[in-house]
Amino acid sequence: MKIAKTVAELKTCLEAIGKDKTIGFVPTMGYLHDGHLALIKAAHAENDVTVLSIFVNPTQFAPGEDLDAYPRDFDRDSQLAKAAGTDLLFFPDPTEIYPTGASTFVEVDGEITKKLCGQSRPTHFKGVTTVVNILFNLIYPTRAYFGQKDAQQVAVIKKMVRDLHLPVQIIVCPIVREADGLAMSSRNVLLNPEERNQALVLSQSLASAGALYQAGEGSVKFLKDKIVSQISSMPLTCIDYVDILDFETLESIESIASPALAAVAVRFEKTRLLDNIILD
Ligand code: PAJ
Repeated sequence: MKIAKTVAELKTCLEAIGKDKTIGFVPTMGYLHDGHLALIKAAHAENDVTVLSIFVNPTQFAPGEDLDAYPRDFDRDSQLAKAAGTDLLFFPDPTEIYPTGASTFVEVDGEITKKLCGQSRPTHFKGVTTVVNILFNLIYPTRAYFGQKDAQQVAVIKKMVRDLHLPVQIIVCPIVREADGLAMSSRNVLLNPEERNQALVLSQSLASAGALYQAGEGSVKFLKDKIVSQISSMPLTCIDYVDILDFETLESIESIASPALAAVAVRFEKTRLLDNIILD
């Protein structure tokens, strides 16, 4: 596995690979877990070359968010990345990605970035689409791999790719979970044992809603209320949002006719966790 820390090194490595190869690209912020590794394995299985980026992107964190506390461990990450099939690991400094400072942005406008995470993190998706665009421009991937864990991020990136006619195929991989159901996240290590225990209520409340839906309950209000009351029964939780939206457009719905996305964001003292389920 080659490691490139600068844009110049990345270009040299990509030139050596050549233009006739398919490139599968997995953008991450590191502190890799099995959810990230599933994306790398999928990329490795479907492409000639697998490129992984590890970059804790400052522009997607607002002042006061957990940019500094975000967990990092490059040595462990590079071993895991290599074992999962990464051929080229791009690990740049912020000055490589934003050489003149962050002054040019790519922003997907509209409801799709204003709902869910967009409400409490209004500048977040602008940072995500900007960095993903920059990385696409540097790497020119054939396919790029994203996790359904960040369902809104997937919807926003797909929209950006459509709107800007970007020559890349977006592949979405299912949520990878711990044995007890908690969605894997780099932030899970920031939970104390009691929070870790109570965090199970995210996946459990979504699974209960899924079971009610399968049993014929189609009312969004009823299902949302059930999820809220189940999560609220855990005293360390603070709900950021619970919502059920059209799966494709993220538009509000009153009852579920076509696939819907039930998504939650919950804060524990310092740590904010996401989870979701597709109701189909
Ligand atoms: P990060 O949180 O590191 O996630 C990188 C990729 O791994 C994302 O596509 C995310 O959805 C996926 N992922 C995380 N946990 C997962 C899980 N449990 N199961 C399946 N996939 C999972 O998302 C980002 O970084 C950043 O916003 C990024 C796209 C890299 C832009 O900076």
